[in-house]
Amino acid sequence: MSGGRKIAVLGAGNVGGTLAQRLAEMDLGDELVLIDIVDGLPQGKALDIQESAPILGFSTRVSGSTSLDALAGADVVVETAGLARKPGMSRSDLLTKNAEILRGHAEAVRSQAPNATVIVVTNPVDVMTFWFRQVSGLPPARVFGESGTLDTARFRWFVAEELHVAPRDVIGFVLGTHGDTMVPVLSHTSVSGVPLTRLLPAEKLDAIVARTKAGGGEIVNLLKMGSAYYAPSAAQAELVRAVVHDEHRVLGVTAHLQGEYGLSGLCLGVPVRLGRAGVEKVVEVALTDSERKAFEASAAAVQADLATLPK
Ligand code: LAC
Repeated sequence: MSGGRKIAVLGAGNVGGTLAQRLAEMDLGDELVLIDIVDGLPQGKALDIQESAPILGFSTRVSGSTSLDALAGADVVVETAGLARKPGMSRSDLLTKNAEILRGHAEAVRSQAPNATVIVVTNPVDVMTFWFRQVSGLPPARVFGESGTLDTARFRWFVAEELHVAPRDVIGFVLGTHGDTMVPVLSHTSVSGVPLTRLLPAEKLDAIVARTKAGGGEIVNLLKMGSAYYAPSAAQAELVRAVVHDEHRVLGVTAHLQGEYGLSGLCLGVPVRLGRAGVEKVVEVALTDSERKAFEASAAAVQADLATLPK
């Protein structure tokens, strides 16, 4: 290790490649390595990104590799590898195939980068985060998944568009799975503190909630040949920055629940406080009865998927 901060991105597809570009441009690590099994892809994307450094002014050293040995000494690992959804496929359809891919990666992290904080992106992300933690043996606080930050960004954008306000002034979060049973939490959404439920009528709110739940699928249906990567990579970069700069941000991730919200033995989307140590704390908020019911249905859906994981 260079003595500086090393970030590794597993998977050099659209998500991994775009994330690597964002991380380099944010100058977050001293060293950024992109890893993929397709020879030439990680090396080519890494070199292409690196060659933008003189123009953009970042000093991060970017490299690409087909070897998992390149994980050695990484401080932060982002797992983006795996199959992406095609039209008509649910995230759960991906479960078995992606679990096999992640098994090898989690074992490599255990041996090559045991002190890393790992952000899992691969779908179905709530299940894959649990699986990665289990195979890697890393502490639960240091393995979490990206879900709520992306879903919340979509939700916030739809609200901002409807109200003609700046997107960053819409504050709120989405609980539960990164899937059809996610729960946009209207009771805790505001525009710079003004409760959303006072700003929009119920039918508009219902439409925004429905569009948020289908947000990933809406992009899949438009692209027809893959899933979203611009907003996902922006969400991932925000999480990496919170860890690298020890920001103690309160953000939505899929985290290990150990009694919080009355649940344990699974990973699910909740607000957490995030810093260098990973998930410092799961933030518990009061929910309305219907939000709690929806959250519990979400937990049940993830439990059912967890039962189908390979042994
Ligand atoms: C999405 C997919 C990647 O939400 O899960 O865009």
